[in-house]
Amino acid sequence: MKPVPSQPPTLDAHDAGRLVELFREVAGLALGEDARPAIERKLRDRVIATGAETFGGYADLLRRDTPAARREIEEALDLVTTHETYFFREEYQLTAFSREIVPRLRELAASRRRLTVWSAGCATGEEAYSLAILLSEAPDLEGWDLRVLGTDLSKRCVAFARRAVYGKGSFRGSPGLAASSSFEPHEDGARVRGHLQDMCTFSQLNLLDEVRASVVGRADAVFCRNLLIYLVPEARKAVLGLLFERLVPGGFLMLGHSESLLAEPGPFEPVQLADTFVYRRPPTDSEPKKGVR
Ligand SMILES: C[S@@+](CC[C@H](N)C(=O)[O-])C[C@H]1O[C@@H](n2cnc3c(N)ncnc32)[C@H](O)[C@@H]1O
Repeated sequence: MKPVPSQPPTLDAHDAGRLVELFREVAGLALGEDARPAIERKLRDRVIATGAETFGGYADLLRRDTPAARREIEEALDLVTTHETYFFREEYQLTAFSREIVPRLRELAASRRRLTVWSAGCATGEEAYSLAILLSEAPDLEGWDLRVLGTDLSKRCVAFARRAVYGKGSFRGSPGLAASSSFEPHEDGARVRGHLQDMCTFSQLNLLDEVRASVVGRADAVFCRNLLIYLVPEARKAVLGLLFERLVPGGFLMLGHSESLLAEPGPFEPVQLADTFVYRRPPTDSEPKKGVR
């Protein structure tokens, strides 16, 4: 066993640049020079645990073309990304989803009686379960096949979501929810009830991994909230292209409140709802595709 170095490793500008470049290539992350102290703090233990000793050695290790290096990249990405989320975050949008989008989707999918909603970048799963709760309570969907897919870059987050047990912090936007009929008591907080868990499937997925992402089925609505803000413009464009392609014609895209497509023309059309606006894949491919205004 290698001795633990007496001085903790420090990250200089050169090695920070190498790591930032790698995280941009693999996951599209937009990390600037100002992220250096955070990267140093978050990855220092990995530098020691892997035996790399220095950040330079760690950057070399991550660049190797081996399964161990790929696993270590996943570890590093898990540590440098933000997984902040909670139940019914940005509730105004979820209310709009229930009141104005679900009725439209019900018409869109009337012949198949199946709805699929994708939480792309679901972190620890609170968004996906919030959507499952809303769908299970939606009027006129009895007997429908209702599915929620949650995907995230982080394996650890996906494992957490599958466990379906949440502590206080996850309920900070929705007091009373933990005691509702959607949850049952658990020694670590509250567990999502089985019928809601059965509606949800969680998978690890890097939205920039075109090959794996292409196996995601078609979705009627996609929630991709508070993810694009962390990506460089080319990666945002690639992710939006993927989401457009995975949405059924007429399907809806919901972004986070600080994210908008105003500056990025694309194939989605904006849809004004009562209190918010969302995006939609035009219903037919023959319809002229408007740029996002
Ligand atoms: C701040 S959380 C957002 C969670 C939830 N959508 C919400 O709004 O509360 C952002 C998530 O995006 C994930 N993420 C970042 N880059 C990604 C990528 N390239 N592919 C898939 N997920 C990614 C992160 O792992 C993180 O869990």
